[in-house]
Amino acid sequence: MPADQRPIGVIGVGYVGLVTAVCLAHLGHHVVCLDLDAAKIDNLCVGNIPIYEPGLEELLAGARERMVFTTSYPRLCDSCHTMFIAVDTPPSPSGDADLSRVERVIREIGSCGGDRLLVMKSTVPVGTGDRVVAELEAMGVDRIGYVSNPEFLREGAAVDDVLHPDRIVIGAYDQRDGDVVEALFAGIETEVVRTSVPTAEMIKYASNAFLATKISFINEIANVCEHVGADVRTVAAGMGLDRRIGPSFLQAGIGYGGSCFPKDVQALKQLAGNSGYHFQLLNAVIEVNHLQKRRVVGKLQQRLGRLRGKRLALLGLTFKPNTDDLREAASIVLASRLRAEGADVVAYDPMVPPGTRPDLFPGVTLVTSALDALDGADAVILVTEWAEFGDLDWRAARERMRGRHVIDGRNFLDADALVAAGFSYDGIGTVNDTPVGGPIPAGETT
Ligand SMILES: NC(=O)c1ccc[n+]([C@@H]2O[C@H](COP(=O)([O-])OP(=O)(O)OC[C@H]3O[C@@H](n4cnc5c(N)ncnc54)[C@H](O)[C@@H]3O)[C@@H](O)[C@H]2O)c1
Repeated sequence: MPADQRPIGVIGVGYVGLVTAVCLAHLGHHVVCLDLDAAKIDNLCVGNIPIYEPGLEELLAGARERMVFTTSYPRLCDSCHTMFIAVDTPPSPSGDADLSRVERVIREIGSCGGDRLLVMKSTVPVGTGDRVVAELEAMGVDRIGYVSNPEFLREGAAVDDVLHPDRIVIGAYDQRDGDVVEALFAGIETEVVRTSVPTAEMIKYASNAFLATKISFINEIANVCEHVGADVRTVAAGMGLDRRIGPSFLQAGIGYGGSCFPKDVQALKQLAGNSGYHFQLLNAVIEVNHLQKRRVVGKLQQRLGRLRGKRLALLGLTFKPNTDDLREAASIVLASRLRAEGADVVAYDPMVPPGTRPDLFPGVTLVTSALDALDGADAVILVTEWAEFGDLDWRAARERMRGRHVIDGRNFLDADALVAAGFSYDGIGTVNDTPVGGPIPAGETT
């Protein structure tokens, strides 16, 4: 079969790989999906999606007939010439990206031999393309095409981001390989950036590092706002109207998390360091983010004094709303700090039922509704801005709580409504916070 009529391979069907595969099938391509996780593949074979991503189930249902799921590399190699690699590249203890999964893919493909076009969607350090090609050539693979095609999707909006991206970046050694990849996305209208492999690899790291920098910057502004009586929400809105700045990623809060920003910022810092350059700014970005999660503990102590024995409710555990992903979520650090202070921590998240990941939340009681989490609580901390928390009946919540304190870690809730319902409110860098030591009705904890 001619190369351009063969199905497209997608290796690693996690958040990026599965969404990419389904979107390629949606665009009309036949796709062979491979993952080493047999349970994941078994589930997909019967139509069960192993991750939560809005819109993915419907898109998969419509494209299912063009998709095959397998754990077999020989089966993949028999069918496919062009293969997307979307395996995870977690941080290693040194902070560098751990490329062991990518290396395993390369060994598997290398042992299949044949003529291959590899398309790297995983986020990999600059220089990985050169290494992969050299390794495959050393293994005697006939002809290796290699394209860097970094992914910029946001979990929770991944389908829309893949079908309507801000740009598609294609870095190729051979322009004909780049053309093949560009043609796969022919149904998508967007700017296509054609460049070299190292430049494409760097565009991904630089983008994530810049977004993380924006977040740490506005968080520092928020912290200064708390000292000088300014309101960061209006500061951010005023800044964002400037087209040179733009409004996105200027929401102050308890810091960034997730499977990408923390590891990618760290990996870029390491990459620079390994190349002999000290990337000073990123050190500050990382440190500000660490400290931001801990500031919430200070706010609670201001309200409640010692936290030992206090019952604290966490609303939201995933690293952002509309995902089930807990990787590097701020809630993990926060819950652990609060437990270390001796607090009883109760938590609710719509995607994290009781019994989920006791390794991440030791000693934390997970419950099945926000109101259950608030039962008898001295204070509530909004960690993840799930829409349902905005719609909560806060007057009913107030009745069920022992205390009356709300720490809004995302500046998401209606502060005026909360204060009207009898709560004290603390946002991040906001001025409508209720003064500490304000009047508290008799018989209540502070
Ligand atoms: N999650 C995001 O929002 C996002 C966005 C942009 C880029 N990225 C990057 O995309 C890559 C994938 O991220 P993810 O979040 O989809 O990861 P993930 O952990 O959700 O999925 C990775 C999948 O790869 C599989 N896998 C691992 N080794 C394998 C191997 N040797 N052969 C076959 N399958 C293998 C795993 O079983 C898993 O299903 C990472 O490099 C990440 O940095 C992620």
